[in-house]
Amino acid sequence: MTDELDPRAAGARRLKNKVCVVTGAGQGIGRAIARRLGQEGGKIVVADRVDEGATQTTEELREHDVEAIKSLVDLSTFSGAEEMMAKALEAFGRIDVLVNNVGGTIWIKPFHLYTEEEIKLELDRSLMPTLWGCRAVLPIMMEQEAGSIINIGSQSVRGLYRAPYASSKGGILALGKVLAMEYGRYGIRVNTVSPGGTDIPDRITSRLSLGDGVMAEDLAQEQADEFRGEMVADIRTQQSLHRRGVPDEHAAAVAFLASDDAGFVTGDVINCSGGQS
Ligand SMILES: NC(=O)c1ccc[n+]([C@@H]2O[C@H](COP(=O)([O-])OP(=O)(O)OC[C@H]3O[C@@H](n4cnc5c(N)ncnc54)[C@H](O)[C@@H]3O)[C@@H](O)[C@H]2O)c1
Repeated sequence: MTDELDPRAAGARRLKNKVCVVTGAGQGIGRAIARRLGQEGGKIVVADRVDEGATQTTEELREHDVEAIKSLVDLSTFSGAEEMMAKALEAFGRIDVLVNNVGGTIWIKPFHLYTEEEIKLELDRSLMPTLWGCRAVLPIMMEQEAGSIINIGSQSVRGLYRAPYASSKGGILALGKVLAMEYGRYGIRVNTVSPGGTDIPDRITSRLSLGDGVMAEDLAQEQADEFRGEMVADIRTQQSLHRRGVPDEHAAAVAFLASDDAGFVTGDVINCSGGQS
């Protein structure tokens, strides 16, 4: 079989020269996605609000001959999302793929223990960056008459002790469906990858970090450990594969949805969760 007929050879660089913006790419699942899209030939915009992680990811990509730039922005604001898109356009002239990956619960506790301020902070972490990202990129992709948006959901929508985070992720599922319906006519596809419990080996920034060096106050250690333990045990009983995921597994699902291999897939969800869903 010649290389041209070998689907593995064709698939190896499915994103050749595609401009891919990945948010929260400074660590964890976002970093794995940036790496994978780069391996597949993409030009990568590494967006994060933490310089250390964004710099590490960008340097690693460049060491592997991937064209990459860094965009340091706070994506809990619309102006941050617009700045990120402007930087991507300035560097590469178009945006083919947007991965809205920023998110993650700040607290783990029953809903009645969240304050009003904490609930707002959770939505700013896990819902607003995806809303702002989509809102900022759509006019660009509409003009191109092409684009693929992949939002990162979660299995928390049926999990314990993260009600505001779970509400954000439920919102992201709805957003993906509605935007797919509204923007398919412009050649834009919108899909969601929903990870299950995943180990993050290279976390630089704690989820309790609120940016600019401010740390959220958590419960007393013993109580926090108790709620976390209960949540983790609940997730473990849900995962048919009886193990936690690794970031590369989510990155592979994102790469598929980003590529033309998923050209007829929109408004859909890949539950990359070891059978948790
Ligand atoms: N790790 C898991 O077990 C798991 C499970 C299900 C879903 N997810 C989802 O996957 C995504 C990534 O998870 P992770 O565990 O890799 O996250 P993480 O907390 O390790 O990394 C998130 C990154 O986003 C950046 N970030 C946070 N707020 C930002 C903001 N306002 N502006 C710009 N950058 C910001 C952080 O600096 C960090 O680099 C999230 O959406 C999360 O909800 C993760």
